[in-house]
Amino acid sequence: MRLNNLIDIQNLIIKTYLSDVKVAIDATLGNGKDTINMLEMFGSEVKIYAFDIQQQAIDSAKSAIKPEYHKNVVFINDSHEYIDNYVTEKPELITFNLGYLPKSDHVIKTQSYTTLRALDKAVNMLKPGGLITIMFYVGHDNAREYNNLSEFVRILNPSTFKAIHINPVNQDQNAPKLVIIQKLEEKNETK
Ligand SMILES: C[S@@+](CC[C@H](N)C(=O)[O-])C[C@H]1O[C@@H](n2cnc3c(N)ncnc32)[C@H](O)[C@@H]1O
Repeated sequence: MRLNNLIDIQNLIIKTYLSDVKVAIDATLGNGKDTINMLEMFGSEVKIYAFDIQQQAIDSAKSAIKPEYHKNVVFINDSHEYIDNYVTEKPELITFNLGYLPKSDHVIKTQSYTTLRALDKAVNMLKPGGLITIMFYVGHDNAREYNNLSEFVRILNPSTFKAIHINPVNQDQNAPKLVIIQKLEEKNETK
C-alpha cells in the first residue's frame, strides 16, 4: 500500500472512524468504485444513495456492483445538488470523487458551483459523528473547483466540524488531493 494512494487512505480513515454505517451517499457514482468500497466495508445492512448525472455512469456502476448488492443502492440519475430531494435520513458517510468519468467525455464533469451547493447541503444533512470525503483531481480545471471548495471547508465552524487536507508533497502538482470533514458528536467536544 503506497502512501500516495489517497483512495486507500480515504478508506482507512472511513474504517477507523465509522464502524456502523446505515445510510451513505455516493455523490459521484461514476464507475461505482466508492459505492463498492462502502458495500465491502459496511455489508448488506447499508443503504447507499448514489448520484450521477450520466446514465452511462449508472449503467457502468450497475454492471460493476454485484447483483446481490443492488437492493442496497438507490441509483439516482440527477445532480448531487438535489440530494435533499431524495434523501430524508441523516447519512453517516458522504463521498465526493470529483472530475470526469474515466474513459468518457471529459466535457461532462463536476462544476464548482453545483458541487458547492451539494457540499453545503451535505454538511447540514450529515449525521453527527459522520464523515464527508472529497477527492479532488485538480488537473481537469486548473484547480478551480479545488480552490472554491477548499475555501468553503476552511471556514466551516470549528466547534461543529473538524476537517483535514491530505496533499501529496513530492508528487506531480496535479496529483489528487483529499479533504475529509468530520461532524462532531457534541458541540463542546475538545479532542
Ligand atoms: C471522477 S468520476 C467518479 C468516480 C467514481 N466515484 C468511481 O469510483 O468510479 C466523477 C463523476 O461525477 C459525475 N458528475 C458530474 N457532475 C455531477 C453532478 N452535478 N451530480 C452528480 N454526479 C456528477 C460524472 O458524471 C462522473 O461520473
